[in-house]
Amino acid sequence: MRRYHVTTFGCQMNVYDSSRLEGLLAAKGWALAAAKEEADFIFLNACSIREKAAQRVIARLKELKPLKKARPEIIVGVGGCLAEQEGVNFLAKVPFLSLVAGPRRLEEIPALLDTLDPHGPAVVLAGDSPKVATKPIYTPKKADLSSFVTIMEGCDNYCAYCVVPYLRGREKSRPEEEVIKEVTQLLAKGAQEIVLLGQNVNSYAPNSLDALNEPPFVSLLKKLDALPGLARLRFTTSHPKDFSLELINLFGTLKTLAPSLHLPLQSGSDKILKAMGRKYDLNRYLDLVANLRRVRPDIALYTDIIVGFPGETEEDLALTIKALDLIQFDAIFSFKYSDRPQTKALNLPDKVPEEVKTDRLIRLQERQKAISLVKNEAHIGSTVEVLVTGLGRHPGQLSGRTGGFKIVNFLGDSQLIGHFSAVTITGASATSLTGELLSPLNESDVLSD
Ligand code: 5AD
Ligand code: SF4
Repeated sequence: MRRYHVTTFGCQMNVYDSSRLEGLLAAKGWALAAAKEEADFIFLNACSIREKAAQRVIARLKELKPLKKARPEIIVGVGGCLAEQEGVNFLAKVPFLSLVAGPRRLEEIPALLDTLDPHGPAVVLAGDSPKVATKPIYTPKKADLSSFVTIMEGCDNYCAYCVVPYLRGREKSRPEEEVIKEVTQLLAKGAQEIVLLGQNVNSYAPNSLDALNEPPFVSLLKKLDALPGLARLRFTTSHPKDFSLELINLFGTLKTLAPSLHLPLQSGSDKILKAMGRKYDLNRYLDLVANLRRVRPDIALYTDIIVGFPGETEEDLALTIKALDLIQFDAIFSFKYSDRPQTKALNLPDKVPEEVKTDRLIRLQERQKAISLVKNEAHIGSTVEVLVTGLGRHPGQLSGRTGGFKIVNFLGDSQLIGHFSAVTITGASATSLTGELLSPLNESDVLSD
């Protein structure tokens, strides 16, 4: 039996893409290898969002050289956004590659492997597939408790720093019926939580026009909310420029929409937001936050921040830190600006030196750490609903997530994994909560509150 080994880098969409690929391989009789050394097909699904992510993948690929030398019959492939970016150039960097496949071409791999000669020339697949227009519905044998479903892919926004539109292509939405069917099947196979994925889910625009004349993403969320068996619904990522009031209101009306949102701000300086081409200012973002909190006061807010964008001054950084103080995010994901090929920012003047970026990142993260700690400590004494996803770090401990996406660790029987539990919070750090099990909950308890 042929064996595969897939390693995934980057975002949740890459995780989703990898699981589809694995599902398709399994359907063709491939088995999962326990280790790379035992695999006939080794695949790295790579990311290119920042230089560091790209370098990490290339280093990991180079580590495979002795294995390929010892067993020349294995097929080593690379996929995802980095494969799209590098295309045929990848073969000069890693000569023993047999396959380079961009993110829109992964589904062709299983058929290709039937004929691909590991001793012959490499195959490079990039750009849109001439054959695949929609994604066939993906149905694993057993769904993850929290399962991803891509609803749209690609991006038309062309933010100055971002390579994604060049690699994932223009926005393309999956038909609504296809999404609903995939979600239904995942729920039937054990998923409790569904996370809808897209580079900008607000731009979800399937061809079918909805009779109610509301944004198609709003209409999709309403339909998914009504599906039996769905306990929690989330989505990521959204763009603040087109986050509609209708969408905000759903946080107050849909029973399954979890009270958490990832809404990338990127910078608190209007000058930098303009240079980034984000098409909103801080005031617009603050309005969105106020409206979200009006509709759902307990909503947990997460964001992305880039420091050291070209032209960023100390004053701009101070404005970003002030924005963190004002908004009080639950947590942030923060990055040093990284030059990416093809992007507008690559050619901007006033690049910020690396050591200045590092210093700014540390200061930003320290400020946020203090905010996150206070936010998390506010939960002490309250009782929260935890979807128990696995074992915690310490013996006897379980781990799970609240509706607000906070990690909670508590002592409990492993039989609770896969179910909701009521947990009273007794401790907090900047990154997680600890608690005591009050009672297991059944699904009807969770859905009725
Ligand atoms: N440099 C640094 N961070 C970046 N991001 C995207 N492109 C870059 C870049 N060139 C960050 C943004 C985005 C997140 C996924 O990665 O904050 O929201
Ligand atoms: Fe990385 Fe972006 Fe591609 Fe995801 S979409 S793999 S984050 S470059």
